[in-house]
Amino acid sequence: MKKVAFVTGIAGQDGPYLAKLLLEKDYKVYGLMKRYSNPNLTNLEFLGIEKDVELITGDITDDGSMNHIIKNLKPNEIYNLAAQSFVGASWDLNKLTTEVNSLGPLNILNSIKMHSPSSKYYQASTSEMYGNSNGGRQDESTTFKPRSPYGVSKLYAYWMTVNFRESYSLHASNGILFNHESPIRGKEFVTRKITDGVARIKLGLEDKITLGNLDAKRDWGFAGDFVEAMWLMLQQEEPGDYVVATGEQHSIGDVLRIAFKHAGIENWESYVSSDPRFKRPAELHSLCGDPTKAEKILGWQRKTDFDGLIKLMVEEDIARLK
Ligand code: NAP
Ligand code: GDD
Repeated sequence: MKKVAFVTGIAGQDGPYLAKLLLEKDYKVYGLMKRYSNPNLTNLEFLGIEKDVELITGDITDDGSMNHIIKNLKPNEIYNLAAQSFVGASWDLNKLTTEVNSLGPLNILNSIKMHSPSSKYYQASTSEMYGNSNGGRQDESTTFKPRSPYGVSKLYAYWMTVNFRESYSLHASNGILFNHESPIRGKEFVTRKITDGVARIKLGLEDKITLGNLDAKRDWGFAGDFVEAMWLMLQQEEPGDYVVATGEQHSIGDVLRIAFKHAGIENWESYVSSDPRFKRPAELHSLCGDPTKAEKILGWQRKTDFDGLIKLMVEEDIARLK
């Protein structure tokens, strides 16, 4: 019999990459989508799997909806990827962010406990939980000190996942994922904003890119590589919490330089400006993860390097706009 996986956030960035991986492993994949007047399946279509995933309408903030789905499916594996995931919006939308990112996972954990305690659970935790807690590399033992309402909301879900594991012996794991990107990354996130902007400049559709804080540094990997770590976590005998990162840090300047280089445009500085509109009330300056635990225990390795990731995104954005 096929294994059954239930993936929330199926139409975002990570959902389609994870669903593709699960389908290749012969899972039956059910994907949760919110109700929309005009549903957008573009990201699933990009990976060619829109017809292979069974879509279910629901919302993780609606406990009845979660109870109904989990009681009926009793999935072998549940991946909770749904979130208000844009850090920049989380100050203005702090209540919504909390309802979705904190209470949503709580609803799912309660449903698992009541209706399907043998389901294995993956919680999409994040390096945003570290804030500016240390200036070096972050691992599973680094103190959490979130700087954004998004980070705070995700920290609640992180600890609830640990608490359900310890209190009710659920197989519940946190993936503490550092930034990961792809050609289907939302255009409001900085890498895709840059690669889309570079493609527009290349094709003569725009003449500049306006960003916020140009000094931020991040550890950026490829979403297609990172979803494999999610799956590996749920294949372990014991649940646990794992940092998933590349271990390499880059600046926004590096993203810009490499993106313009792959588009064949020189003097990138002359196309870029900074506007306080895109700055945040509290900034997280520097992240760089240490993936040693995931590499040793899960046997996970990233395959795509930073240059290759930005190249992939720029080329795809140019092709799309052409
Ligand atoms: P994403 O592209 O924003 O996808 C999240 C999806 O969740 C969206 O399709 C969104 O729909 C949906 N959603 C929002 N609220 C929902 C609700 N109440 N019920 C059901 N679905 C809902 O994010 P991603 O980049 O794929 O990231 C996946 C997860 O990993 C998120 O939880 C994110 O916070 C976390 N994470 C991401 C990264 C990263 O670098 N990408 C790093 C660490 C952790 P709408 O867009 O229509 O609202
Ligand atoms: N979005 C955006 N737009 N960010 C900008 C801009 C801009 O115009 N200019 C500078 N930045 C800076 C942000 O201030 C931040 O320091 C950095 O670029 C990265 O911003 P995002 O790409 O929006 O990602 P993020 O790091 O805030 O959050 C992403 O990664 C988290 C993991 O660390 C999201 O995917 C989160 O959901 C995820 O948890």
